[in-house]
Amino acid sequence: MKTKLSVKETAVSVVAFAVCYIVLLLVMFAMLAIVAMESVLPYIREHVNGVITVSVAFFIITAVIYIYFFFENKNVLAHVSKIIEIFFLLYLSLVLCTVIGKFIDPIARPLLFCPLMLVMFLRRRDALFINFVFATLLFIFNRYLNNIDQGGSVQMIESISSLLTIFSVGTFGIFLIKNIKNRLGCVLITLVLLVPAIVIAIVMRLTVMDEVTLKGMLNIAMYAALNCLFSVFLFMFFLPLFEALFSELTPFRLRELTSDNARLIKKLKANALGTYNHCVVVAQLAEACASAIGEDAELARAAAFYHDVGKLKNPEMFAENQSDYDLHKELTPELSVDIIRAHARDGAKLIKKYHLPELFADVAIQHHGSLPIKFFYYKALRMSDGSLNVANYSYPGPTPTTKIAAIIMLADASEAATRSLPDRSPEKVESFVKNLVEERMNLDQFVDCNITMRELTIITHTLVTSLTGVYHSRIAYPKLVLSKKK
Ligand SMILES: [Fe+2]
Ligand SMILES: [Fe+2]
Repeated sequence: MKTKLSVKETAVSVVAFAVCYIVLLLVMFAMLAIVAMESVLPYIREHVNGVITVSVAFFIITAVIYIYFFFENKNVLAHVSKIIEIFFLLYLSLVLCTVIGKFIDPIARPLLFCPLMLVMFLRRRDALFINFVFATLLFIFNRYLNNIDQGGSVQMIESISSLLTIFSVGTFGIFLIKNIKNRLGCVLITLVLLVPAIVIAIVMRLTVMDEVTLKGMLNIAMYAALNCLFSVFLFMFFLPLFEALFSELTPFRLRELTSDNARLIKKLKANALGTYNHCVVVAQLAEACASAIGEDAELARAAAFYHDVGKLKNPEMFAENQSDYDLHKELTPELSVDIIRAHARDGAKLIKKYHLPELFADVAIQHHGSLPIKFFYYKALRMSDGSLNVANYSYPGPTPTTKIAAIIMLADASEAATRSLPDRSPEKVESFVKNLVEERMNLDQFVDCNITMRELTIITHTLVTSLTGVYHSRIAYPKLVLSKKK
């Protein structure tokens, strides 16, 4: 998490917000064109006070968004693409609501589209805040430029009802959808949101209905249901677009990247089955560890899946893909070290070639840090006069720069080593993992990733629990001896 912005980052973020504000004003004019149809200029002249009020209100809101991110999440301000993404979603939601409100019914506006999208690429707290901003923007636009000339309490109730729906059902949706792992789950959750959306729409309009009839109530319920259905449809339609445009790693995209149909995973499974199986277990371990220390578990899981793709270049040179014969027996230790350590760099290259997330490439190149390849170092030592530079038998680094890379380094080493342990009792696994973590600490592998001692202790504990679960000891099955009938 960024705690300080450089002068350049501050200047760039302020300019980005200024541009986004100007575009917000243009969006307001676009919405006016939708509301007023062809006669937009006379409409603006007639509502000049409203236009000024909305422009000032939008400016204040833009400034409040900046202040919020300045104190709560500077990472957003440090990335212009993130700022553009947030504003682009606000523009899109405002225009969609105006179009559907104008041509179908104000109750049918897709009010939940914005909150559902927000939570896919922002932290929950940030998503809640921007959702409130969206509700306020829509309310101000409705009150000053859309409904005010029509007067009457019905329009006022419509504005308040929209505000209440976005605040309450939107918030509810943000909490529910954050834990959903697939797109179908999203549809089901949104169907759950139908109930409060319909209740709010009916209750709010009861106060202004001249005559309360079943037909009138069903009409309102139908339009409120349309709000949810439009929201889901637009969510499903626009989410892949946001994923592609802004390189967003939503939980759905991450799941797709780790499915057996993902191109590199398919290749890994076909050409290096041993490595693929190893990656599956490392991914499980990384997910558990990330979740235990409050890191992004889905991201850790996906990055772990790709950490060893560099082995695709020479799969048969790695122990997990060899059957009986070890090809390294024919090679000098130096040549073996060259082949083994190249997999980190080759993996990063391959990930970039396939246009996969940068974090995956960082994890691939960092997952062995600058550790020595002990087996070949000792082999070379035995063949030498006893004076060797260990750096020539080590990975070149860099060491992990993120907590997720550190987790994957530990999960990777623990899995590979535990698999080769003859005794996998919880006590043995625990002492082994503890030694492994300590060794990496002594070799300064975590100096660049801000991980704390407490987090390393939690990771150790999680690895031991998960590994003893994966490699639990089985009771020896007695051999069945059948006596032949004579
Ligand atoms: Fe590796
Ligand atoms: Fe590995």
